[in-house]
Amino acid sequence: MRTALALGLSFAASTAAHAQSGAAEGQKLAFDRGKGNCLTCHEIKGGDLPGSIGPKLENLKARYDRAGLIAILHDETARNPLTVMPPFGRNRILTEQEISAIVDFLQTL
Ligand code: HEC
Repeated sequence: MRTALALGLSFAASTAAHAQSGAAEGQKLAFDRGKGNCLTCHEIKGGDLPGSIGPKLENLKARYDRAGLIAILHDETARNPLTVMPPFGRNRILTEQEISAIVDFLQTL
């Protein structure tokens, strides 16, 4: 009983936190080595041990709108057939909600 109540409360708390801050959730997903794993290829402010296969992710808001960033995450091979960046949306590595949260985060860079 107590456990169920505690779980219910923490679920409600995390849902509220998600609604408030997609960017914080997106940062977690982007840095998670089992999820976005973006640091394998990109340097990102606040991230540890980045790789350098892709460009440093910065100043993105000035160059891409939201739809542009979603498209890159959904399937960068549409823009560049030779890219090594995984098509996160097309291959269902990330859900639409996860991609949306990551884009919230990218727009803060
Ligand atoms: C296997 C390496 C790899 C991974 C993993 C990867 N990318 Fe990329 N990414 C690239 C490369 C290489 C490019 C350069 C453009 C191209 O290849 O078309 C790129 C380009 C980009 C761009 C355009 C940058 C610019 O300055 O124009 C964005 C935004 C981006 N990636 C975001 C992400 C995010 C967010 C993740 C994690 C969800 C991610 N990438 C994971 C390799 C990767």
